Amino acid sequence: MVDETGIFIGASRKPDDSYQRAEELLLRYGNRHGLVTGATGTGKTVSLQILAEGFSNAGVPVFCADIKGDLSGISMMGDAKDFLVKRAEQVKLDPYQFQEFPVIFWDLFGEQGHPIRATISEMGPLLLSRLMNLTEAQEGVMNIAFRIADEEGLLLLDLKDLQALLANMADRADQLSARYGNVTKPSVGAIQRTLLVLEQQGAANFFGEPALRIADIMRTTRDGRGAISVLAADKLMMNPRLYATFLLWLMSELFEELPEVGDLDRPKLVFFFDEAHLLFEDAPKVLIDRVEQVVRLIRSKGVGVYFVTQNPLDIPEKVLAQLGNRVQHALRAYTPREQQAVRTAAETFRPNPDFDCATAITQLATGEALVSMLEDKGVPAVVQRTLIRPPSSRLGPIAPDERRKIIAESPVAGQYDEAVDRESAFEILQKKTKEAQDAEAQAKQQNSGGSRWTIPGFDDVLGTGNRRSSNRQTVAEAAIKSVVRSVGSSVGRAIVRGILGSLARGR
Ligand SMILES: Nc1ncnc2c1ncn2[C@@H]1O[C@H](COP(=O)(O)OP(=O)(O)OP(=O)(O)O)[C@@H](O)[C@H]1O
Ligand SMILES: [Mg+2]
Repeated sequence: MVDETGIFIGASRKPDDSYQRAEELLLRYGNRHGLVTGATGTGKTVSLQILAEGFSNAGVPVFCADIKGDLSGISMMGDAKDFLVKRAEQVKLDPYQFQEFPVIFWDLFGEQGHPIRATISEMGPLLLSRLMNLTEAQEGVMNIAFRIADEEGLLLLDLKDLQALLANMADRADQLSARYGNVTKPSVGAIQRTLLVLEQQGAANFFGEPALRIADIMRTTRDGRGAISVLAADKLMMNPRLYATFLLWLMSELFEELPEVGDLDRPKLVFFFDEAHLLFEDAPKVLIDRVEQVVRLIRSKGVGVYFVTQNPLDIPEKVLAQLGNRVQHALRAYTPREQQAVRTAAETFRPNPDFDCATAITQLATGEALVSMLEDKGVPAVVQRTLIRPPSSRLGPIAPDERRKIIAESPVAGQYDEAVDRESAFEILQKKTKEAQDAEAQAKQQNSGGSRWTIPGFDDVLGTGNRRSSNRQTVAEAAIKSVVRSVGSSVGRAIVRGILGSLARGR
């Protein structure tokens, strides 16, 4: 039932519960974003699954996070369970065909998928500060750190690069304050401590190289289906801020890297943002504004963003206003606050004279939803009470050995699996410190007129110590210069930062 122009979502029902018509998401409005909401266990993940299937079949690559592991089944052929077959009949899905989808598993921790990494430099000061929950003063210091790195040609790739730079900044805080404004030792120290916490939470894996190439999540198969990138997020959810920052970074990378394309007959990529409330939870206003901006502008790059969350109120109004395709599963309404949430959710729909939206939201069955997609001219359709179709792929999680097999056979196998640690700020600053220490030692020794003491048999070591270190100095100096030179040219571009402060490459 997947045709050329739309994704079949399910069947809407008349007030007497009889079949009304097929509901579909029009591919040409797939980049007008969307929203899937509903209380726990009401069918959000399955709705996400059938949408991802539909996009993939239409040749659109998909990126989605798998919070509970139950989305991984999309990589396997479904089977004809009674309740699924019954649902297929109810929504007049005929024939109900089973299918496995081309999935690439990813995992920030590299355990349940290919590791995803980004460099500190790519992430940028705004998102990092958010990730580390920095105060305004600390964020100011972070901005200065990035400026210094750019100006002094220090590559910031991983956490230890940033650690080294901060340590270096603390050493010359007075000098830096004179030049850039307030860089106090306590604020640098506070950032350093937060970095340690971050490291303990496992973020060290995420920062480094090889960094994710956007092209690798935009693959299609030879038979024209879009790859579905599934991010294992169960462990990641223990650090919600890392989860949210990572997805924001990815969205901003897409935004910065993809060209303007205007309106296409289908999106170039669709991005599902599960547990979307985490994006906005105690986020500073400037970040919310920027996210709103990215969501608004990314449309013209052919990217559709679909937020998945329990309640539409979790999403700031300005962002909500841009989410054209809506699937609202059941909400509970026991407390006055919940009742208010239901009414507000109901008010976001174009009303249907056949039923009362607010009442319907509390009565929806599992896998049933109020659906309003954009129709002709991009206008939201009148809301319909819709039974959602069953998936073609497997419902529920896959087994570890099934996952391992898919990872081994993936098109990016071997590409990201090993981390690379090339020379960057940490190594460069370490060398500089060493040089300074050597120079100091040398000066001391000269002042004292050479060593009077000797250790029998080790005299040689002590005696040639100076020559050795001066040797090393020249080698180190040469290395620094060459690195600075090669970095210098790329840093020239690196200074251009996008809306969310991540690198705007290729400009
Ligand atoms: N469209 C559907 N067709 C058939 N069964 C469905 C459908 N949607 C949901 N179900 C059934 O309901 C169960 C719960 O759905 P789902 O896991 O999507 O809920 P959820 O809203 O994601 O829950 P949670 O908030 O706990 O993640 C599914 O495992 C499935 O059995
Ligand atoms: Mg779910």
